[in-house]
Amino acid sequence: MEIWNKLHTRHEAIGERPILALFEDAGRAQAFTIRTQDMAFDYAKTNIDADTRADLIALAESAGVAEKRDAMFRGEKINDTEGRAVLHTALRNRDDAPVLVDGQDVMPAIRATLKRMADFSDEIRASEITDVVNIGIGGSDLGPAMAVAALAPYHDGPRCHFVSNVDGAHIADTLRGLDAKTTLVIVASKTFTTIETMTNARTARAWMVDHGGDPATQFAALSTAEDKTAAFGIDAARVFGFEDWVGGRYSVWGPIGLSLMIAIGPKGFNAFLDGAHAMDTHFRAAEPLENMPMMLALVGIWHNQICGHATRAVLPYDERLSLLPDYFQQLEMESNGKRVQMDGTASPRDTGPVVWGAAGTNGQHAFYQLIHQGTRVIPCEFMVAANGHEPELAHHHHLLIANCLAQSEALMQGRSLAQARKIMQEKGLTGEELERQAQHRVFVGNRPSTTLVYDRLDPYILGQIIALYEHRVFVEGVILGINSFDQWGVELGKELATSLQPVVEGTQGTEGKDSSTAALVEYLINLRDK
Ligand code: F6P
Repeated sequence: MEIWNKLHTRHEAIGERPILALFEDAGRAQAFTIRTQDMAFDYAKTNIDADTRADLIALAESAGVAEKRDAMFRGEKINDTEGRAVLHTALRNRDDAPVLVDGQDVMPAIRATLKRMADFSDEIRASEITDVVNIGIGGSDLGPAMAVAALAPYHDGPRCHFVSNVDGAHIADTLRGLDAKTTLVIVASKTFTTIETMTNARTARAWMVDHGGDPATQFAALSTAEDKTAAFGIDAARVFGFEDWVGGRYSVWGPIGLSLMIAIGPKGFNAFLDGAHAMDTHFRAAEPLENMPMMLALVGIWHNQICGHATRAVLPYDERLSLLPDYFQQLEMESNGKRVQMDGTASPRDTGPVVWGAAGTNGQHAFYQLIHQGTRVIPCEFMVAANGHEPELAHHHHLLIANCLAQSEALMQGRSLAQARKIMQEKGLTGEELERQAQHRVFVGNRPSTTLVYDRLDPYILGQIIALYEHRVFVEGVILGINSFDQWGVELGKELATSLQPVVEGTQGTEGKDSSTAALVEYLINLRDK
C-alpha cells in the first residue's frame, strides 16, 4: 500500500511537467528504451523519470511478480478460481526440460500433438483442399484469424476463412462461393459447447452434405473435450486435443493454431513458436530494468492506475496487424477486467483498462482527432516494422514509418497558443478572429506514447509480439492482485441468452422477464411475423 501511495504522491508532484523537459537529459532515449536482439521498446515519451521507474519496479517486486512468474512456468495452479495451471508457455517450450503438472511431464504429449498437427497440415497442403473454414469464437477464432492476416506474405497453403458470429450472415457470406468438395471445416472450441460455434458447425455440416462434400473426411476438431467431438461425429484421427491449462485467449500456440499452420506450413508455425519462446526466455531471465514485458506492464500501471487514464490505444503501423487491436482487446480485457482480488475482496483500485485501436495510418483519419485534441488523455502504443515485404514499394514504407513517428512526436510536443497565433497571422487574420481561430489550432501536447520497433513482421517476430503482450497482461494482473486467467464475467450473458432463446422463438412467454426485455421481444416478434 505504501508503494502505491508513494507513486500517487509522485504523480501529484509531477503535475503538468512537460515530457519534453525530460529530454534535457541527452541519455533519455537510450535509458528509456529496451533493446533485445530483435526489437526495441521505447517508453521515453512518457512522463516516467528514473525515480518513478524505480518505484514502479519496487511495486512489481512487492507484488511478487518474479515468484509468481516462476510459479506459472513451473506449472503451479495459479488460476485458483478454476483450479488450473497456466501453461500456454509449455505449448511453445523448445527446451528439453520437463514441465510438470500434478507431477506429470506434459511435454511428450505436446510434442506428439504438434507432430500430428504438422503431418495433418502437410497432408492438407498437398491435397485438393482449396479452402479452410475455421469455426470458433473468442480465443478459438481471434488468434488464428489475426495471425493468418498478419503473415499473409508467408501464406502458401489453402485460403483460410474464419466464422465466429452466430449471426447467420457470417457463415452464409463465408460459405457462398466455396466448393463443398474442396473445403476443410475446422471446428475450434476448447469446451465444444459454445452455442455460437456449435450452431455454425451444424450449419456448415448441413451445407457440406447438401453440396456434395463429405463431413466424415472434411471436418476436423480442436478441443479439450474429445468425448464431445466424437459425439458430433468427428473421427479421432482428425481431432487435436489440448488440456484445460491452456486458456482460450492463450491458445493460438497449440491445436487452435491449426489453420495458421495449414496456411504457412509447419516450418513457419515452428518459427512462430520459436519467437514466443525467445520472449518467454527473456521474460524469465532479464532484470526488471531490461525486461520488456515487465516495463511494458509498468508503463501500463503508471498510465492506468496512477495517472487515471482509463483507456489505451494499440496502434500498429502495419496493415497486416489490423486485427491485433481486437486480439489484444480480448487478451487484456478478458484477462484483467476483474472486480475482485484473488482473495475475493473488492479491488481497491481500477483494474484493467479499456483497450482499443486500429491500424495506422487509417486511424489518423478517424479517431486521432480526439487523441490529439480531446479532453481525455489516451496513452498510445505505436508499433512499426523497419522493413515491409514489398521492396518495390519501399517509399510507401518510409511514409508509413514517418507517419508513425510523427504521431508520437506531435502527441508529446503539441502546438502552443503562440505558435497557433503565428500560423493565423501568416494567413492574414487579425484581432478577435485571429484569437478564436488560433484556439482551435492549439494542441496541448504532453500526451504519452510508447513505440515498439521490429525488423520485419515474420512468424518469429509475431510470436514475440504476442508473447510480449501476454506477459504484460500477466505482470499487470499480479500487481493488481487479480486472477488474469478466468473469465466468469462472460457467463451471465450466456445463461440469459439460453433462457431467452425459447422466448424469442415464441415457444415460451415473456413472464418473469423485466418489462423492457419483454416489450423488446414482443416488438421484434411482431416485426418478424409481419
Ligand atoms: O467468451 C468466453 C470464452 O470462454 C473465451 O474465453 C473463449 O476463448 C471463447 O469463449 C470460446 O470458447 P470455446 O473455445 O470453449 O468455444
